[in-house]
Amino acid sequence: MTKPSALPENNMRCQSLRLIQIRSFQDKTIEPSENLTLITGPNGSGKTNLMEALYYASAGKSFRTSNDGELIRLGEKEGTILLTFTVHHVDQEIKIRLSRENGKKIFINDTPIKRKELVGLFRTVLFTPDELQLIKGAPQLRRRFLDMEISQVSPRYYEEILRYTRAVQQRNAALKNAQFSGKKPDLDLWDMQIAKGACYIVRKRLETISKMNETVPEMEKILTGNKEKLEIRYLQQGSETPRFDMEWYLEQLSSRREEDARFCHTSIGPHRDDCLFLMNDLDISAYGSQGQQRTAILSMKMAEMEFVRRETGEYPVLLLDDIGSELDGARKKALLDFLMKNQVQTIVTGTEILSDGGKIIDLGNNE
Ligand SMILES: Nc1ncnc2c1ncn2[C@@H]1O[C@H](COP(=O)(O)OP(=O)(O)O)[C@@H](O)[C@H]1O
Ligand SMILES: [Mg+2]
Repeated sequence: MTKPSALPENNMRCQSLRLIQIRSFQDKTIEPSENLTLITGPNGSGKTNLMEALYYASAGKSFRTSNDGELIRLGEKEGTILLTFTVHHVDQEIKIRLSRENGKKIFINDTPIKRKELVGLFRTVLFTPDELQLIKGAPQLRRRFLDMEISQVSPRYYEEILRYTRAVQQRNAALKNAQFSGKKPDLDLWDMQIAKGACYIVRKRLETISKMNETVPEMEKILTGNKEKLEIRYLQQGSETPRFDMEWYLEQLSSRREEDARFCHTSIGPHRDDCLFLMNDLDISAYGSQGQQRTAILSMKMAEMEFVRRETGEYPVLLLDDIGSELDGARKKALLDFLMKNQVQTIVTGTEILSDGGKIIDLGNNE
């Protein structure tokens, strides 16, 4: 008996991106190639604007601003991002209409959807020079990194995050009201919801980190050739070894009620957790050189791609904004070799032409 032949290698593909009255563009369409595309042009020519639009179609928000109005071209009332892409051999179209008066509207194949339904349709992994913040910046950035990564492969996770966040806000509001009224707040219901959400979220985060830890050293090795031991560790508020059982969370929430009432906040839960990046068991934010931190983050992002592929069967689209300055020649080559070998669609921006091969889109030429 012959074995059935494996399906041909297939990954997420952006077919075209059109920006109408978005940022610096009146009406601009790009068609990235199947594998490598380099968007080039002088500073201010709109390279990052294009990346931002691709990311927006993926995450339903910008990585540069939380104010959607900034994306609408100056002097215009509305702007549209149109993306056609292929996922599991099926062509899809995402349309995002941003309006100064009416906010944003999202459509998939002309059917209106909510933002939470958008996340996970067009999957991307983004790397920008700002990404160093992932190591050096506030815990919130690392939580967001994890949450976005998991949400892209699990709609349920994204729902749970939204529900959990609302429950924390409601508990905090109850604490505040109690402070005004002088009455004892009734927190049982919120504690219950928070504990339930927390267990699910922390369990998923731990699972994901453990899967990432299986591949992150391989990626580091591909990039640097060395055998540094790179690892992500989850840091849970309130416990040395992470817990994700109801009893523990309920007990923590209840024992913190007095303190929480004083500050009108909720001092325990995944919204207070963090993670640590370790190289050879040392905290890389304190002990790593800048070069090591950069490659560590890139290894993390590659592990994220590998994670998405394992969970969904397809590599996401990789967006590398201004990466030219980030990596030396050897690392760049190792990275591109890996991406081409795995047929990952990769969109790179830079001021100079840095690759051999690949499609070049030159924004300086006003084509
Ligand atoms: N809402 C907007 N309307 C018009 N132009 C904008 C808007 N937002 C940004 N720009 C312009 O976009 C340009 C920056 O584009 P960007 O993609 O960051 O350039 P780069 O090619 O250097 O990455 C600037 O010239 C800026 O003035
Ligand atoms: Mg830029």
